[in-house]
Amino acid sequence: MKRVDDFRLRLGRQELVPIMIGGMGVDISTADLSLEAARLGGIGHISDAMVPTVADRRFNTRYVKDKLAQYKFNVGNPDKSVVQFDLGLLAEATTLHVSKTMEAKRGPGLIFINTMEKLTMNGPKETLRVRLRAALDAGIDGITLAAGLHLGSFALIEDHPRFRDVKLGIIVSSLRALQLFLKKSARTNRLPDYVVIEGPLAGGHLGFGMDWAQYDLATIVAEIQAWLKAEQLDIPLIPAGGIFTGSDAAAFLEMGAAAVQVATRFTVAKECGLPERVQQEYFKASEADIEVNQISPTGYPMRMLKGSPAIGDGIRPNCEAYGYLLDASGGCQYITAYNREVAAHPGERKVKVWDKTCLCTHMRNFDLWTCGHYTYRLKDTTRKNEDGSYRIPSAEHIFRDYQFSTDNQIALPE
Ligand SMILES: Cc1cc2nc3c(=O)[nH]c(=O)nc-3n(C[C@H](O)[C@H](O)[C@H](O)COP(=O)(O)O)c2cc1C
Repeated sequence: MKRVDDFRLRLGRQELVPIMIGGMGVDISTADLSLEAARLGGIGHISDAMVPTVADRRFNTRYVKDKLAQYKFNVGNPDKSVVQFDLGLLAEATTLHVSKTMEAKRGPGLIFINTMEKLTMNGPKETLRVRLRAALDAGIDGITLAAGLHLGSFALIEDHPRFRDVKLGIIVSSLRALQLFLKKSARTNRLPDYVVIEGPLAGGHLGFGMDWAQYDLATIVAEIQAWLKAEQLDIPLIPAGGIFTGSDAAAFLEMGAAAVQVATRFTVAKECGLPERVQQEYFKASEADIEVNQISPTGYPMRMLKGSPAIGDGIRPNCEAYGYLLDASGGCQYITAYNREVAAHPGERKVKVWDKTCLCTHMRNFDLWTCGHYTYRLKDTTRKNEDGSYRIPSAEHIFRDYQFSTDNQIALPE
């Protein structure tokens, strides 16, 4: 039986180990994690979720403090439509995050940024344009368009000098989404360099409804493969979602996938952004502790641990400091849910909000424990310490396990 290392991903002139670590916001897929993937010859992702906040933590900047100071007058106002992002500062923060990461890159691999359309930031088009262009200016190797259909995203950067040679990819969960994207982007005369096909077992937001369990990644990959062949289009396909062992990955590569995108195994890596106390929760989880629910104000279902502190928490919306999910008219489903509960419980100091969550605040604080379906198997990928906690493996260990393992084996860290 073949192993992942028997295959290579060809992207233009580049030949890579066919392992891509998926983007995990907010700063769960850190620069350090992406740098390890690149050093080992694969592809790593940083994320463009809440970059000013991430920059503050990474570089001691004051983007969040300054924005909060600017809009402090609005904190008690249930209407958040005045809260805007300064596009110059957004570009500056993105440039800082990307360029410092790229400067540190060593080895033959690549670093991409996961750019989410659903971060509408009270100015969907303008803020997306700024984030994409700043990442290109700062030398990112590639951009993976995520969390949305991105029907206009190529057009936002088609006049950028790097548009033809930077690697551009899109995440889809169905053939229909890919067909729509290709149709709408056809005018720019450029195909994506790769397509990530994300199935229903992935972490983060899902591109399926609450009937996600009825879908199967291999079936969607085969369907997209057959359609591309019929259209005589040659675009590398990268399946994602539930690929837990090197053998799972090799099976997709044998069926013609160009690479795999994986994430859950790396949530417990040393270089991952999750604090260790949260990583221990991921290790401890059983299958019954994981659910797909609809509390994300983006409207997409999301998979997470049922014990996430974010669930039910009724914190006051923090849009003056964050506000990354404000739509074009300054609304967010959490604000609506929160205001409804406040009105229903007059005089109460703290309300509970069960149907939606303040995603910005809770992702920023690592209190929403989003995870892949197979998180309950993470405990089988490491050893236990004497005190009963689980040992945290390095990203290199996990990467090499994917690359070299066979027979569904998982190598445990020393
Ligand atoms: C903790 C976590 C956070 C994630 N965040 C994002 C994200 O911000 N954007 C995105 O496109 N995908 C996100 N994903 C999806 C991954 O990039 C990846 O495609 C998927 O999880 C792969 O499946 P696996 O986790 O079963 O390996 C996230 C996944 C996890 C586990």
